Order: sequence, then structure tokens, then C-alpha cells
Amino acid sequence: MTIAVVGLGAMGLGIAQVYAQAGHKVRATDQVAAARETARARLEAALAPRVAKGSLSAAEAAETVARLEVVEDIARLGPCDLAIEAVAEVLAVKQAVFAALQEVMPNAVLATNTSSLSVGTISVGLTRPNQLLGLHFFNPAPAMRLVELIPHATTSPQALTLARQLTEAAGKVVIQAPDRPGFIVNRCARPYYGEALAMLEERRNAVEIDAAMLAAGYRLGPFALIDLIGADINLAATEGLSAAMNHHPRYHVFAALKAQVASGALGQKAGKGFISGPIEPRENAEISLRIESTLVNEAAWLLPEGGVTAEGIDTAMRLGLNFPLGPFAALQQHGAAKVVAMLNDLEAKAPATLKTRYIAAPMLKESSRPS
Ligand SMILES: NC(=O)c1ccc[n+]([C@@H]2O[C@H](COP(=O)([O-])OP(=O)(O)OC[C@H]3O[C@@H](n4cnc5c(N)ncnc54)[C@H](O)[C@@H]3O)[C@@H](O)[C@H]2O)c1
Repeated sequence: MTIAVVGLGAMGLGIAQVYAQAGHKVRATDQVAAARETARARLEAALAPRVAKGSLSAAEAAETVARLEVVEDIARLGPCDLAIEAVAEVLAVKQAVFAALQEVMPNAVLATNTSSLSVGTISVGLTRPNQLLGLHFFNPAPAMRLVELIPHATTSPQALTLARQLTEAAGKVVIQAPDRPGFIVNRCARPYYGEALAMLEERRNAVEIDAAMLAAGYRLGPFALIDLIGADINLAATEGLSAAMNHHPRYHVFAALKAQVASGALGQKAGKGFISGPIEPRENAEISLRIESTLVNEAAWLLPEGGVTAEGIDTAMRLGLNFPLGPFAALQQHGAAKVVAMLNDLEAKAPATLKTRYIAAPMLKESSRPS
């Protein structure tokens, strides 16, 4: 099969690598000459550590690089089976890219790597909108196993099957997600950060909160994770989702996060963040149950909206965020009664700005009732 990739930035190059490693011919382009000219050298550099470690032979690495052909513009991509765009996160830019792709490869399945735009909205104006779907890779694409597969209202089953098969054969775990803000992972992850920030604003300590989540089996506490992602990136994602969800308090943008961004302590890239130095895990059931209860609640609100399964949500959260367990596994572990009691308690004590944040999803209330 031949795969087209448009945009050779961080994501596009990683996506090109995924399919080239799986043996496909990849034809790629970028509007910036420097991105095109450096693409093959960057791919070679990305493979070099694996060659040095002995997990990839020099010949295999060279073959992978040889499978990537960089062309000057979309018109020169020629016919391909699947085309993935990883260009700027701007609706008009993505729509123009797909309109051009449909001219060049009328039969190709088209995929967007958008993280925050609606796939259905991107499809508006295309001559064959049923060929478009979302393939949401995580960063870095070659290392992260999860890919969210997002149909919009008229995506054809054939397009979905082709995108799924090619991506699974390239070693990814493909989970279908609804075309709703944040898909699965970016939406269901919000409480991990938000509830930690709520506790920080209640004068709890960031180290104590992170230590509790480490003791509960999480690889990184919420604040160490914000430091890794960058507080500015985390704030932008939170604000985007909050706006898309009509500013519901479940997606509240906490002042503590805004203040952190304003202070410049953005995390690892700034050399200072919420956390400095390693943290020893320290059990604190009140903190971990509180954060896990809000994670469970978000997933329980999402599930009945459709287009996703409880298993799919759990797998996506484990693979997309390296969580030790998904929200429905956490629900099983704690039991609905305990989770709902925690949420009710939080709702009762919530300040005015957060009222309704903790209202338990109907399916949780239902299963917490004594039978
Ligand atoms: N970075 C992440 O963590 C991440 C994760 C998942 C999804 N995404 C999404 O992937 C997409 C790309 O993100 P990125 O981080 O790789 O960005 P990036 O800025 O690193 O790369 C974007 C590339 O696209 C090129 N480009 C822009 N407009 C173009 C056009 N019209 N035609 C051809 N090339 C064009 C740019 O020159 C640039 O090289 C965005 O939609 C983003 O939301 C990013």
C-alpha cells in the first residue's frame, strides 16, 4: 500500500515512520522547504538509537528511510491508498489540504490527525466526505501504541476498515472514539489534572498529591505530568475543551494552572515547574480515591453518549496516558457506592464556581443503589 503524509513536523514525521517501518511506501510533503529537505535525515536520526541498541539492523533502518519519498507539493503525491494530514491545527488549512488531496487521489481514504477539531466539521465541503475519518496518534507516534479512530456521521465502513487494518498491522492498538470534543483520552484525562489543581487551590501540597498517585500505581503524578507536557500546552487543551463543552464545571480551568503559566514555570522545558526532584510514593487513599472518582465519573458521562465501549475507554486511558488501569477497572476496584459517596461529598462542599462539577453520572447512581 502507499500512504501519503502531509505535514512533516513532529507528528507527521512520526506517522510516516510508523507506516514506513511496517513496510509501506510513504510519500510525504510539507509546505516548508526545510521540513521537506530534512525529513529523511530526521527519520534516520530517529531510528539511530535503535540501531545502536541492536533492536534494528542498519539494513532495516536504511530500508525504512528508503521507503519515505518526499515530494514538493500535494499535486506530486500521486495516487495513494490512505492519506494522513498532520498540518497546522486550523480548520481552513485542514479543509484546503483535503480538498487538494481529493483532486490528486480520488479513491484514497483520508485521515486527519486533529486533536481538537471536529472530524465532521473538517469534512464539510469535501466532494466525498464519506472517505474522511480521524486517526489520532499520540506523541511520539512511533512509541505510543494507541491510535483513536474517529468516524464522523457519514464515514463509510470501508474507509474505517482500511484505516484500522493498516494501522493495526503497523503495530498500533486502534480504539474507535466518538467525534466529540477531546475524543476519549483528551477528555477523560481532564480530571486527573483538574482534581489535583482543585486540591492545590484548597492548599494541599503538589508533592503530597503526586506521591499519593504514585502509591496508587500511576507512573507520574498529575503535577509531574503537567510539567512533562508543559503547563501552557495543558492550559490550552483545558481551555479548548472547556469552551467546546460550554464551560461546564467538569472542565473548569483552574486559576492555579493559569497562575503557573503566567509565572513562566511551565515545567521541564522551562527548567522549573510544579515539582522539583524525585518523589517518593506515599499512600493517601483520600487523595487517590478523589482523583479516581472524578476520572470514573467523566468516563461514565461519556459512555452513554455513544460511539465507544467501556473496554475501549479503559484501553485508551491505559495506552494513551500510561495509566495503570482504566476508569471502569477503577470503578470495579472501588465499587460504585464508594465512588458515588465521594462525588456526593465533593458536590456538597463545592464552592459556587464548581457547583454541578461532581454530579454523579446516571449509570453510577444506578449501580450504587442497593439491590
Ligand atoms: N504535537 C502533539 O502532541 C500532537 C498530538 C496529536 C495530534 N497532534 C496534531 O497533529 C497536527 C500537527 O501537529 P505537530 O505537533 O506535528 O505540528 P508541527 O508544527 O510540528 O508540524 C506541522 C507541519 O505542517 C506543516 N504545514 C502547515 N500547513 C501546511 C499545509 N497547508 N500544507 C503542508 N504542510 C503544512 C508545517 O510546515 C509543519 O512542518 C496538529 O493538527 C496537531 O493538533 C499533535
